[in-house]
Amino acid sequence: MTGTSAIALVQGASRGIGHQFCKTLLMRNSAATVVATCRDPNSSTELSRLRDSNPDRLHVCKLDVTKENDISDVSKYVTEKFGKLDLLVNCAGMLHPSGKGETSLKSVDGQDLLHTIHTNTVGPLLMAKMFTPLLLNGNGQFGIRSTDPKSVHCGVLANISAKVGSITDNGLGGWYSYRMSKAALNMATKNLSIEFARGRKKIICISLHPGTVDTDLSRPYHKNVPKLFTTEYSVDCMLNVIDSLTLGDSGKFFTYDKTVLSY
Ligand SMILES: NC(=O)c1ccc[n+]([C@@H]2O[C@H](COP(=O)([O-])OP(=O)(O)OC[C@H]3O[C@@H](n4cnc5c(N)ncnc54)[C@H](OP(=O)(O)O)[C@@H]3O)[C@@H](O)[C@H]2O)c1
Repeated sequence: MTGTSAIALVQGASRGIGHQFCKTLLMRNSAATVVATCRDPNSSTELSRLRDSNPDRLHVCKLDVTKENDISDVSKYVTEKFGKLDLLVNCAGMLHPSGKGETSLKSVDGQDLLHTIHTNTVGPLLMAKMFTPLLLNGNGQFGIRSTDPKSVHCGVLANISAKVGSITDNGLGGWYSYRMSKAALNMATKNLSIEFARGRKKIICISLHPGTVDTDLSRPYHKNVPKLFTTEYSVDCMLNVIDSLTLGDSGKFFTYDKTVLSY
């Protein structure tokens, strides 16, 4: 990240990885401003505490990613306040409404599947749609700027995906809703990267796997995980990936250590 006026928006910032993105972004650049969105700003004590210690640099907005009106309201707020966006992190996500992934076809429920896809896939795509004009006004504060003046990126869009969304990597099965929602999110990343590469102003769009991280989402599975990351470690690594991005990286699916995953 360079310069003095970076504007980043973290969607899904009440807790877990999204909340850590806000903390680390504020820490890494003393001039960065962060817009943190969450469903219920009043109930996130961690976010309120962070705002109290960064009153001018952290803006908290209400946004349920399944509600188009919320997305539109926050895009208007960012337009009026800043007129641009340098980084959008689509972070909100769910494993399944029950908190545990399906172990077999028998436990698949249509409404639960749709709810998961609405949150993990449809929401991030609508975020991309409504924040594209702001990302096009970004000035390359995240990622490495190209030396070719005809091929410079303005903003970065990072979709927080999951390795289990890789079709190639799927050797175990199960987790129908989560796997399908993240595979479809990865397709959205790829499609967006193609569209974003066409114009004179470009947006870098990637999918990012955070590793297995110590959060509420992964809690039911912690005892089976050999390498459980802290949110601090995972987010620091993912921001290193974001800071190292070039236009040639757009459309790729990276892990926290910039290994490229197959879709
Ligand atoms: N933890 C892992 O090991 C792991 C591994 C791979 C990928 N990921 C991905 O990383 C991202 C963050 O997960 P996490 O581990 O930090 O999970 P988490 O601690 O359970 O946090 C989930 C976040 O998503 C928000 N959210 C859920 N539904 C929402 C909605 N409709 N609108 C707005 N926000 C909503 C939650 O907000 P509320 O507080 O309002 O519920 C919360 O802030 C997810 O996309 C997840 O799939 C995590």
